[in-house]
Amino acid sequence: MQGSWWTTLLLLSLLLSAVLPADGLWWLVPWALQLNMTYTARPTNISAPFSSPRLIGNPGARGGSNAIRWSTGEARRYCGAVPWPVRRQRIMCEKFPRATTKVREGANLGIQECQHQFKHRLWNCSTSDVSVLQRLLSIRSRETAFLHAIVSAGVAYGVARACSTGELQECSCSKAKNKPPPGAESGGGEWEWGGCSHNIRYGDTMSKEFMDANEVAADDTGLMNLHNNEAGRKAIKTHMKVTCKCHGVSGSCATMVCWESMPSFRKVGDIIMAKYHGATYVKINKKGSRLRQRNKRHKRPTAEDVVYLDDSPDYCQADLAKGSYGTQGRRCNRTSAGVDGCQLLCCNRDFVSREETTEESCNCKFKWCCEVTCKKCKKKELVNYCK
Ligand SMILES: *[C@@H]1O[C@H](CO)[C@@H](O)[C@H](O)[C@H]1NC(C)=O
Ligand SMILES: *[C@@H]1O[C@H](CO)[C@@H](O)[C@H](O)[C@H]1NC(C)=O
Ligand SMILES: *[C@@H]1O[C@H](CO)[C@@H](O)[C@H](O)[C@H]1NC(C)=O
Ligand SMILES: *[C@@H]1O[C@H](CO)[C@@H](O)[C@H](O)[C@H]1NC(C)=O
Repeated sequence: MQGSWWTTLLLLSLLLSAVLPADGLWWLVPWALQLNMTYTARPTNISAPFSSPRLIGNPGARGGSNAIRWSTGEARRYCGAVPWPVRRQRIMCEKFPRATTKVREGANLGIQECQHQFKHRLWNCSTSDVSVLQRLLSIRSRETAFLHAIVSAGVAYGVARACSTGELQECSCSKAKNKPPPGAESGGGEWEWGGCSHNIRYGDTMSKEFMDANEVAADDTGLMNLHNNEAGRKAIKTHMKVTCKCHGVSGSCATMVCWESMPSFRKVGDIIMAKYHGATYVKINKKGSRLRQRNKRHKRPTAEDVVYLDDSPDYCQADLAKGSYGTQGRRCNRTSAGVDGCQLLCCNRDFVSREETTEESCNCKFKWCCEVTCKKCKKKELVNYCK
């Protein structure tokens, strides 16, 4: 009796894994989000934020100064608990366990940003149910494309940032560049590269190791995922900013020290969101080697563009088999004509209005010096939910 149970279960899971195309992301999302699982990283004792003036703009900043060493046993235990889909990832993890914790935090950053960007849209980047997410990812839509790009960018960002704060032994701030900083010459004085540039090259490499390792460029799905992973990383690489600081007697600019820093991750999210809106609908060419835009009149997608192969499911109706929760019960804005407005968000269905009380700060008083004290006030508010 028990034996047949197991056979059924085994057959069922085999069937499921055959039906659902494996996507390189689905395993990573729960790993990144369940920061509570048995393989949670050791708590770090590093408090320096990456924009800390101690590190950025300080030519003496060196990577590794804050690094915590992991013993081989600790690395084995940490890496062994992760269900790596690719053996190479586990090897990388055991070699660079601390950087791997940053890969995970970076992936988490990407997912949080996705939920911010899609907060008021039909699809809201919900990751609460991993099996529903897996089904969403099996459709090679714009949304899947966005997720690949943002998570891949997040991983590169998380690792690059950790290099600059000195949390990792294997990387540090990046060193001099050949190209002169734009506008540096106009300052009149001498300039040099210095300080702590964000090590986007190392972040980029780690993102490739962990994100691209799951994909094979042998079919359209693999090509799409690889393309979008790179598009996400490009959103950082092409928006690096040069910052310079003057050094000299009493504010003169005798010498200037310049360094490169990444844009804020919110900016990266905005860039990828713009790419999502202008995403290119593609198909594989006859040779099976490249993706080409379906509409010949559209321009060819560049490496920075987001590409997709399938139409999106209808996010208005709940269809869990396609990863869609529908918009019933979503909160909407009655007076907005945008995507957060009730008409669009509820897909022309009706909505219900409920009076809800919320607490907010009020009667704030400024006390000399320097404190602001507020009272908590209850406020009644009409909130609308899609039917
Ligand atoms: C996370 O871990 C803490 C302590 O180990 C536990 O109290 C908490 O319930 C966990 N949270 C979740 C969501 O599992
Ligand atoms: C972090 O490290 C410093 C010095 O190494 C120590 O004084 C401090 O107590 C530590 N903080 C925590 C939370 O472990
Ligand atoms: C997204 O929408 C669902 C309902 O469709 C809701 O349960 C969830 O809280 C929303 N937000 C996120 C971030 O998942
Ligand atoms: C609803 O939309 C209007 C118009 O876009 C905006 O002014 C208002 O702040 C929004 N309300 C909420 C609660 O977001």
